[in-house]
Amino acid sequence: MKNIFRTKSIGTLLKESHGEGESKNSLRKELGSFELTMLGIGAIIGTGIFVLTGVAAAKYSGPALILSFIISGLACAFAALCYAEFAAMVPIAGSAYTYGYAALGEIWAWIIGWDLILEYTVAIAAVAIGWSGYIVSLLESVGIHLPAQLINAPGVKGGIINLPAVLIILVISSLLIKGVRESAKLNNIIVGIKVIVVLLFIVLGVTHVNPVNWHPFMPYGWGGVFQGAAVIFFAYIGFDAVSTAAEEVKNPQKDLPRGIIASLVICTVLYIIVSAILTGIVPYAKFAETSAPVAFALQQIGITWGSALVSVGAVCGITSVLLVMMFGQTRVFFAMSRDGLLPKVFGEVNQKTGTPVKSTLLVTVVTAVLAGFTPISAVAELTNIGTLAAFVIVSAAVIVLRRRRPDLNRPFKCPWVPLLPALSIIACTYLIIVLPAITHWRFVIWLAIGIVVYYFYGNRNSVMNDNKENAA
Ligand code: ALA
Repeated sequence: MKNIFRTKSIGTLLKESHGEGESKNSLRKELGSFELTMLGIGAIIGTGIFVLTGVAAAKYSGPALILSFIISGLACAFAALCYAEFAAMVPIAGSAYTYGYAALGEIWAWIIGWDLILEYTVAIAAVAIGWSGYIVSLLESVGIHLPAQLINAPGVKGGIINLPAVLIILVISSLLIKGVRESAKLNNIIVGIKVIVVLLFIVLGVTHVNPVNWHPFMPYGWGGVFQGAAVIFFAYIGFDAVSTAAEEVKNPQKDLPRGIIASLVICTVLYIIVSAILTGIVPYAKFAETSAPVAFALQQIGITWGSALVSVGAVCGITSVLLVMMFGQTRVFFAMSRDGLLPKVFGEVNQKTGTPVKSTLLVTVVTAVLAGFTPISAVAELTNIGTLAAFVIVSAAVIVLRRRRPDLNRPFKCPWVPLLPALSIIACTYLIIVLPAITHWRFVIWLAIGIVVYYFYGNRNSVMNDNKENAA
């Protein structure tokens, strides 16, 4: 076993991203801070706000959903500042994985990368299934009824395959293969639609709020509020995907921190307002009946046209989440394969399209199978832990690298180091603890497999083996 704590020098990382040496494996630079913020919002607002808010309100938080959103949002804000410092300093595809490599050593990088592979896979499947649920109910509202066998996973209401979930994954994948510029443009339009829809809900709902619905405020106590926070954490996942686009950004030192922070702030504000209005319009227990709580709330107050519009917006919104998540997933593969930790085929960039076609296809096949044949309840329970773990490691990496390499140029500095990263570590660890036990198991088992793969493949094939200067 070669040195598992060897770190990659920032200089080498930057050289790679500029395409020196292996120019075949560098990506096109076409994104600015506006596109990045849109990419962030595109990744953030989706299944979390449109689907999981109902689950969290009915089962865990009650009207205190707003507190759950604030708690989760704070944890993300701390982590986002840590991400921003790294993203500006090491603007390279791979995000948390690459930061771990630079600060903590290869084994930690491997753990994050391996962990994110499963996290993205599970989250992409969960989001696709959520999309399918919304499109099916939208079609039903205009009188089109699809056969139950084709819209449910086996074991759910006589289902054979969740076809809409599979199809949407195929569509998104073909967009990503075509190239990042086309995808970013489409993303901008979709994000516009979904923000308008969320604002529409706020405007239509605010006058129907009945404060009586806010009592009792915390039906499940503080325990419920924190569990609710761990569940709706899913709604915030995505701002980190901004940093996975680092190598395709024109001016990463400025644009990346801006994109990360702006998208998170905009979404947090929207979420807090939406959750307050949602629980103010409808008694929280009623959300147990629906998987489309935002549209459902408008229906309850008799605004059916608004409800239909929100559904259309939700479908668009969830689509853009998928776009960014699949994008992020392939970029983690790209970075790991370039480093030799995964086979070269995952990092190959197609000469014609300038995109990693092969790894995109792999992600497509695996997530489509998962989304087609697994019920959302099973998939949704498995998410969040991977992202929370990555946040913990990135926050720790900020503290470590400040100590080890105070000399490095940091175009954006996370404030109050080490206090703020420490708060991020504590908050994210706490949210991990309150997640369901099955999630903890999937995490441990996947990591155990990962360590074996690293031992037999990654450690032996790492490009660091040929690069003495880096192995310090
Ligand atoms: N934040 C993303 C969503 O809500 C994952 O769907």
